[in-house]
Amino acid sequence: MNPTKNIIIAIDGYSSTGKSTLAKHIAREMGYVYVDTGAMYRAVTYYAMINGFIDENHFDKKGLITSLSEIDLSFEFNKKLGYAEIFLNGENVEPFIRSMNVSNRVSQVAAVPEVRQKLVEHQQKMALKKGIVMDGRDIGTVVFPEAELKIFMTASAEQRAKRRHKEMVDNGVDIDYQSVLENVMSRDHLDTTRTDSPLVKAADAIEIDNSEMNVDETYALAMSYVKEKFLEI
Ligand code: DC
Repeated sequence: MNPTKNIIIAIDGYSSTGKSTLAKHIAREMGYVYVDTGAMYRAVTYYAMINGFIDENHFDKKGLITSLSEIDLSFEFNKKLGYAEIFLNGENVEPFIRSMNVSNRVSQVAAVPEVRQKLVEHQQKMALKKGIVMDGRDIGTVVFPEAELKIFMTASAEQRAKRRHKEMVDNGVDIDYQSVLENVMSRDHLDTTRTDSPLVKAADAIEIDNSEMNVDETYALAMSYVKEKFLEI
């Protein structure tokens, strides 16, 4: 598709609903920039872990907030992979931010208003020229309430845990299904109940429940909404 206009496409939803796969695919098709905001929250969590602000038993929120000015996040496009990788203070942290340790702590870090404020400002700056597909939890509600197209992704917790488990096992991670399901459900709870920018469907978002859909079917449905939008504007 050759878009005549640059728009903002916001893709929000529950974890492991295939948001990033879908967002990457749409961005490639449209020649748009793709931004994975979950990677930004994960990178801040990784920073908090390696600097001793968070572990299994404690979270030094104040310490992390004081150090936020020391955190520089940037994205660099990797031609081979076909998407941008995230850098934390100049270091490519992609290999570290998808671990279970980070996954188990990221919702706590993402609930800190000061963290959110810093990352939301960064995200808004990245879209000044539009032509962007951004995925996360609050893109259509907080980051870009004026986004031209908002998609909200959902699927059953069991189906999402099954997919995440397979992805991890395929990547050589030794983990049982039950632990993944527990992580998915605990993140759902934390993400939807936090006070600042909880995960909620924007009133004008189109919902896609892909419990019974594969990646190609999800993409085809989403692209039909993109095309409809381009006919409207
Ligand atoms: O999309 P993900 O699973 O990589 O996101 C990791 C966590 O970051 C998720 O549990 C919630 C949080 N997050 C958020 O609060 N706001 C966003 N815009 C993106 C992610």
